[in-house]
Amino acid sequence: MRIDVLTLFPDMVRDPLRHSIVARATSAGIADLHVHDLRDWTFDRRRSADDKPYGGGAGMIMTPRPLITAIREISADGPVPPVRILVCPQGEVLTQRIVSELASVPRLLLVCGHYEGVDERVRSGSIDREVSIGDYVLSAGEVAAVVIVDAVIRLLPGALGSPHSAVDESHADGLLEYPHYTRPPEFEGAAIPDVLSSGNHARVEAWRRAQSIERTRQRRPDMYARWWVNDRLSRADEPSPRPRRRRHSPPNGRG
Ligand code: ADE
Repeated sequence: MRIDVLTLFPDMVRDPLRHSIVARATSAGIADLHVHDLRDWTFDRRRSADDKPYGGGAGMIMTPRPLITAIREISADGPVPPVRILVCPQGEVLTQRIVSELASVPRLLLVCGHYEGVDERVRSGSIDREVSIGDYVLSAGEVAAVVIVDAVIRLLPGALGSPHSAVDESHADGLLEYPHYTRPPEFEGAAIPDVLSSGNHARVEAWRRAQSIERTRQRRPDMYARWWVNDRLSRADEPSPRPRRRRHSPPNGRG
């Protein structure tokens, strides 16, 4: 997969992505990452990419010409056009489902918003989708772009050591992940749960599933409510007579 990032601060994007899983995936050719400096598409001596807002008000606005020209040229470079994403606080809030959607296309172009925002004319015609990483405001869209690139790359086939890692982890199936333990079997009086050293794979799986569900119910009632409804719906599809399956309490805590 190819990922282009258009930014005023290329090092803010390159530096954090030089480590660990993302670095391994890029050097293995699993992800082809290109970081572009927006100032290469500026047209004046000062290389300015922003200006004062019409109508007055605080802050500066990213001007349309460098952005639109850069998006056009970068998109035309390569055999497939990218899905063009504006990274900004007004976008749809990133979830693991959106990350999977982004990881399934051959090419992405992330455009990092900055200052007070971008000229509205950039949105119409040059952007396919807007993504925010949460309901708070960062000082730089680059930080959000790094989050998106990291989350996408680790889903690409071959990026993680084991193909199970991305399936097992929190959010992958709408639940938080179960607790993990490693050696020693007892630390400062706290022992690992017996089931994990039982050697009984089916019991371990059942324990992990139950822990996942309970942890989600306690920590993320919003996720639990969605999962519970989906679980109910999937049981409705089961052929009758239904196999006996464990019942989980409904999201309001009763039952
Ligand atoms: N730029 C500033 N805040 C942001 C956020 N929460 N998500 C994406 N881009 C941003």
